[in-house]
Amino acid sequence: MDKIGIVGAGTMGRGIAQFLAGAGSEVILHDIKTQYVEDALESIEINLTRSVEKERITPDKKQKTLNNIEITTDLKDFRDRELVIEAATEKMEVKKKIFQDLDTICEEDTILATNTSALSITGIAATVTNPERVLGIHFFNPVPVMKLVEIVRGLTTSEEVIQECQDFVAAAGKTVVEVQESPGFIVNRILIPMINEAAFLLQEGVASADDIDTAMKNGANHPIGPLALADMIGIDVCLSIMETLQEELEEDKYRPCPLLRQKVRADQLGRKSGQGFYNYS
Ligand SMILES: NC(=O)c1ccc[n+]([C@@H]2O[C@H](COP(=O)([O-])OP(=O)(O)OC[C@H]3O[C@@H](n4cnc5c(N)ncnc54)[C@H](O)[C@@H]3O)[C@@H](O)[C@H]2O)c1
Repeated sequence: MDKIGIVGAGTMGRGIAQFLAGAGSEVILHDIKTQYVEDALESIEINLTRSVEKERITPDKKQKTLNNIEITTDLKDFRDRELVIEAATEKMEVKKKIFQDLDTICEEDTILATNTSALSITGIAATVTNPERVLGIHFFNPVPVMKLVEIVRGLTTSEEVIQECQDFVAAAGKTVVEVQESPGFIVNRILIPMINEAAFLLQEGVASADDIDTAMKNGANHPIGPLALADMIGIDVCLSIMETLQEELEEDKYRPCPLLRQKVRADQLGRKSGQGFYNYS
């Protein structure tokens, strides 16, 4: 697939654009405001320049990658796209509206993917006329660095669409796993409850944040401790994923730790707000 459209130029959309353009696809990156897509393009250029300085890529590769990226605020520019990946805000009503629009703009065999972390692929697919072409393609942050992509099958996704996307993403250089639609898929279903448990340990005064993270790094061979990782992901994002797990799976073991709620209420969201389980100022 050569012609890709990406909806949403935030953290994930710009990362996916950089990665796929670098792998040789022609990418159009869309957002609701010109400023947002221009900022995204600028940040991609800064990333690529840093990679050139570190001799990870050549100046020629940087230029080719940038040449492969166009920006737009008009979704109608997605008319000829073979694959569209939606990476807009994690709200069901936002995603449904985007898919309804894509349904009227794109060819009827254009594959429509969502990068959602936890929302139902089947629910999103229900908004288009032929839902067998809708699936989840779940990248990880930062996209150019993280190797994994979860390919998520909704109830109505066709086998051909799953296969075509697995082959495409693997050929672009990622490690692919296939998942049946389920809240949190594989990684977040395991990872976020672990972070939640670490927050319970801290709340109960069992150990300090530093000692919890040191224990998991040295006792479980994790490259980063769970609380430092929560600060990287965003404590608000961790809380919202726990809430989805609890709501959808209806089990007590997914009860969000009250300390996560307190942190969010205090705007202590992690690195992005300068304070989370650790201080970054
Ligand atoms: N941040 C992560 O670590 C991460 C990891 C994996 C998946 N995701 C998922 O990726 C998606 C995007 O997350 P993010 O972290 O990049 O969010 P973000 O807030 O950084 O970016 C979202 C972008 O979507 C844009 N947007 C909102 N409504 C739009 C619309 N109608 N049309 C076009 N653009 C629109 C916003 O202007 C914003 O630029 C979410 O579904 C999220 O759950 C995030």
